Amino acid sequence: MNKRDTKQQKSLLIPILIILSALLLGTLIGIFVVIPAMKPNPPKTSWIEPTQGELWLQGQALYQQHCASCHGSNLEGQTNWRQRKADGKLPAPPHDESGHTWHHPDAELIAITRDGMVPGVTAPEGYQSDMPGFGKILSDAEIELILGYIKSFWSDRALQAQKEVTLQLIQR
Ligand code: HEC
Repeated sequence: MNKRDTKQQKSLLIPILIILSALLLGTLIGIFVVIPAMKPNPPKTSWIEPTQGELWLQGQALYQQHCASCHGSNLEGQTNWRQRKADGKLPAPPHDESGHTWHHPDAELIAITRDGMVPGVTAPEGYQSDMPGFGKILSDAEIELILGYIKSFWSDRALQAQKEVTLQLIQR
């Protein structure tokens, strides 16, 4: 091997390295970006997260203005909320973990807040309830802010359970 050959080999080395890196990059993009995106039905993950910071403050303000008068400013609900009143209707339940708000999937919580307890939809036929519908007052985004605020009071265990029922309903 003479001197010129070695020089030629060296000058080839860089293009070869560039091509190899490009191939490697292409493979990595294929594995981590293209293939995952090709999955036929990527599961929807539109679960409303508990909020913090600025979003939490917005949710707090909306909750205190629209919900606290019945559900309590500390989310504690009305006293004896499990007992029907003289008119046969139920008092407002707590939204903290001692209530059952966290048993319902997001879609149901949004529907109840937007439309109230609608017989045949979110309540049994003929059901009468004092929960007002807020559809004319609050936008869906505002309802989500309120739910994010409410969720910030739940434990990880309750959050996980409520996330599961929410995603099960979405994937059905
Ligand atoms: C005028 C009183 C009143 C106000 C104001 C009110 N609620 Fe209610 N809410 C109720 C009552 C009463 C119930 C129980 C309904 C029943 O079971 O008949 C209820 C039930 C609910 C439920 C169902 C809870 C469960 O565990 O089944 C949700 C969710 C809810 N309210 C959300 C809200 C949100 C969010 C706001 C504020 C935007 C709000 N409510 C404002 C009275 C109220």
